[in-house]
Amino acid sequence: MKSYLSGIQPSGLLHLGNYFGAIQHHIALAQQPGKHWYFIADFHALTTVRDPEVLRRNVFETAVTYLSLGLDPEKAVLWRQSDVPEVMEIAWLLSTVTGMGLLERAHSFKDKTARGIKSSVGLFTYPILMAADILAYDADFVPVGQDQVQHVEMTQDMAGHFHEVYNSEVFRRPECLLPAAGAAKKVPGLDGQKMSKSYGNDVWLFESGKKLKKRIGQIVTDSRPPEEPKDPDAIFLFDLLALFLDPAELKSLKDAVRQGGEGAPGYGHLKGRLTEAIDSHFANARAQREDFLAHPERVWQALESGAARARVQARAIRDRAFAACGIR
Ligand code: ADP
Ligand code: TRP
Repeated sequence: MKSYLSGIQPSGLLHLGNYFGAIQHHIALAQQPGKHWYFIADFHALTTVRDPEVLRRNVFETAVTYLSLGLDPEKAVLWRQSDVPEVMEIAWLLSTVTGMGLLERAHSFKDKTARGIKSSVGLFTYPILMAADILAYDADFVPVGQDQVQHVEMTQDMAGHFHEVYNSEVFRRPECLLPAAGAAKKVPGLDGQKMSKSYGNDVWLFESGKKLKKRIGQIVTDSRPPEEPKDPDAIFLFDLLALFLDPAELKSLKDAVRQGGEGAPGYGHLKGRLTEAIDSHFANARAQREDFLAHPERVWQALESGAARARVQARAIRDRAFAACGIR
């Protein structure tokens, strides 16, 4: 049976970009045959989140988000990274066979420091911990976005170096699993750039009612009047609408905008339709979330039982790695 593993950083409330770019894919995969591993990468988040209360809240919210959107903790193992300390031991072993040059080539370190994140040693060695996360569970496939492909390739390299140095095949070689062609590669934010927490242009996927209306109202548009004919494909508001509307409705709105004239929908109308569509798309998940908020013990319990299952696997692989290099 093939196994699938991915990690989610608890670095803030999850937004529509995270949903269409990653979470939706994870939840759909977990309904397929196979062994599914999803963890909340709190050790990784320490490279950016410095407030203990915020970190705790984010871990909880991330778990609630996955559970409310339908991740079944019986079918997929869901846990908190820090509950499985064996991964840190594997990370150390990998660090001793990883050349500085490999880490120096990482795009994510350069991108993050360029965005003003403090360049700690932990941020630099982040790919080693990520490799340990993957290798500790014998993952065959790692469903991630394009931005994480290099990290998975580095994982393959680190496993290969370990095998060469110790002349034994301890780890399974993982492959990336990218979202299917046609899936949302890049969800735009309120300003048209990639939606991202760090740009402050994101829409929380559980936002609703007046707050959602206000947020969607902030989507940047121009001052052309509704009757002026426009190219809908040059209006990024349509990229957001495309995530929610059925193709027939989307086409008829686009046709009307292209044609212009009396009665053509203006930006206000399109934003109203988007607000409604988001509100109803996540209505069920929002209700589930309320239920989990009223019973937080269910969330912690799911994470604890996930951690117990994850630990059995990570311990076996840690023992294999220890034996290969002469520890114990
Ligand atoms: P952020 O940019 O808000 O910090 P992350 O980098 O933590 O988001 O992304 C977590 C996951 O969500 C990644 O797999 C990433 O590919 C996906 N993702 C984030 N933003 C978007 C987006 N705007 N469009 C598509 N996928 C996204
Ligand atoms: N680096 C990933 C991100 O920023 C999160 C992550 C940590 C991860 N460990 C992982 C993803 C292992 C896949 C597998 O989104």
